[in-house]
Amino acid sequence: MSVPHLNLFPNPFKGAPAIQCNFDRFHQMANKINAWTDFQQFMDDCCRRLSVDPDVSGHGRWWRAMTYQTFITDGKVKGQRIVMPGDPDNSVVLHALRGDPPDFSSTGRFRRMPLGGPYFDDADVLEVEDWIRRGCPDKPDPVPTT
Ligand code: HEM
Repeated sequence: MSVPHLNLFPNPFKGAPAIQCNFDRFHQMANKINAWTDFQQFMDDCCRRLSVDPDVSGHGRWWRAMTYQTFITDGKVKGQRIVMPGDPDNSVVLHALRGDPPDFSSTGRFRRMPLGGPYFDDADVLEVEDWIRRGCPDKPDPVPTT
């Protein structure tokens, strides 16, 4: 049914692209990590960008010191099970990167990682979270055949 008088006020949004919800935005930025080797490289890249060096002491670059199989089943840092694939809320690595209480807050027994900062960008933590939420898939890009 048309309402003639409404046409006097043209719709300024007509033809404009639909406004994206945050869910879409999240999914546009996600998916950077799709394999164990992506995760290893991602962690190294974040550390390099921030000039933090986990090799100095303590646990070191644990993502380079264990296999994917160990990481997803039993991988630990300082006795803490690092990840629960598919379950970000129970994945210690995310608590560590965000500085979540109780263990990783400024008064916690570990404190936020990387220890002393600077800390990962929120967007980078979201990339790790997204990979964990998807169950830590290990799908390396296929090597092109010639
Ligand atoms: C996954 C859970 C983690 C736990 C339980 C943990 C625990 C700790 C602890 C206890 C220390 C103090 C040094 C020591 O006593 O060895 C430390 C240091 C440090 N952590 Fe973590 N950490 C975790 C994740 C991370 C992550 C994701 C990063 C990211 C780069 C990181 C970077 C560092 C750095 C740079 C230091 C200082 C240098 C060093 O001791 O290696 N940690 N961590």
